[in-house]
Amino acid sequence: MAGNLKGLVLSGGAGTRLRPITHTSAKQLVPVANKPVLFYGLEALRDAGIREVGIIIGDTGDEIREAVGDGSALGIEVTFIPQSAPLGLAHAVLTAEEFLGDDDFVMYLGDNLLRDGITPLVDEFRSSDPDAMILLQQVPNPESYGVAVLDGDRVVNLEEKPKQPKSDLALVGVYMFTSSILDAAKAITPSPRGELEITDAIQYLIDQGKRVEPHVVTGWWKDTGKVEDMLEANRLILDVIEPVMDGELVDSDIEGRVVVQAGARIVNSHVRGPAVIGHDAVIENSYVGPYSSISTGCVVRRAEIEHSILLERVHIEDLDARVESSLIGRDVTISRTDAKPRAYRFVLGDSSVIGLT
Ligand code: DAU
Repeated sequence: MAGNLKGLVLSGGAGTRLRPITHTSAKQLVPVANKPVLFYGLEALRDAGIREVGIIIGDTGDEIREAVGDGSALGIEVTFIPQSAPLGLAHAVLTAEEFLGDDDFVMYLGDNLLRDGITPLVDEFRSSDPDAMILLQQVPNPESYGVAVLDGDRVVNLEEKPKQPKSDLALVGVYMFTSSILDAAKAITPSPRGELEITDAIQYLIDQGKRVEPHVVTGWWKDTGKVEDMLEANRLILDVIEPVMDGELVDSDIEGRVVVQAGARIVNSHVRGPAVIGHDAVIENSYVGPYSSISTGCVVRRAEIEHSILLERVHIEDLDARVESSLIGRDVTISRTDAKPRAYRFVLGDSSVIGLT
């Protein structure tokens, strides 16, 4: 293989399926167990021995730059690469041409999470030296993904989100490429949805007789593009956390595996893990149940929460019913008042979803 192996992480794009959270912020920064999704990918690249990482950014670039910095805290060297518009994954690769040079690279979609990381896969790519390697997983809904057809261990056909999938093998959002993908990306034309598809570029490599190796991934994989998938990823990550107690506990019970971060205060409450309570959060006269991630600065008083992600500084007070399976954006307040006449009072952003009991 040609010299150095770089990382290319795609963190631009629109995030339409995670609105309203993504009206104001990057989908790749939504926290899973209180850590941005994007960081899991950056750490997976680092753990596979990759140091130089390019990050494609779009409209939310400033926020991504601020969260990642120069990458040194994560043990990598980051170069930010602005993309003019989200014109497709292959367009993102072309945007990174100067950064990539002739080097081989691992492309990692910034909203993807793989339980087992990618180290053995990167090692396999380094040793078997194909023109490209793709990761696949069997899914019940292949029409939502790129879909591959195999003949033995050869990839024969790839299609992006086909209405009638020819197999149930979805393309996982991690790809290993040689610089031949740059020529392929230049040769293809935009798809019906107007994007330069990486799926078409890989099909082009196959048509040119290049060696594209498939690898079926068996550990769990999540594309966190939708709310349900985000909650599911949160559940899967919390399932393997180790308990930490750095906060303050007053007249409260903690059951199971719970991470309480520094500055958090839990008063007269019951927390049943697995759960994470973020820095400086306040939980008072409340119940926090399994699979809850409560971010920095949240306040929960006289309320019950389970299987939910609260972003920074959410306030929830005096609720009669439990908050469940919810994703709540930064600085949101949900509370009860005694004001008459009794009425719901909402200040909601575009695309908000409310479920009342
Ligand atoms: O998650 C796996 C799927 O990812 C694959 O099965 C599909 O074949 C592949 O096309 C991709 O599909 P999505 O529709 O989920 O891609 P999405 O638009 O969500 O973009 C993936 C990531 O790349 C996301 O973090 C945003 C970023 N992105 C996307 C585009 C279109 C960019 O940085 N630039 C872009 O132009």
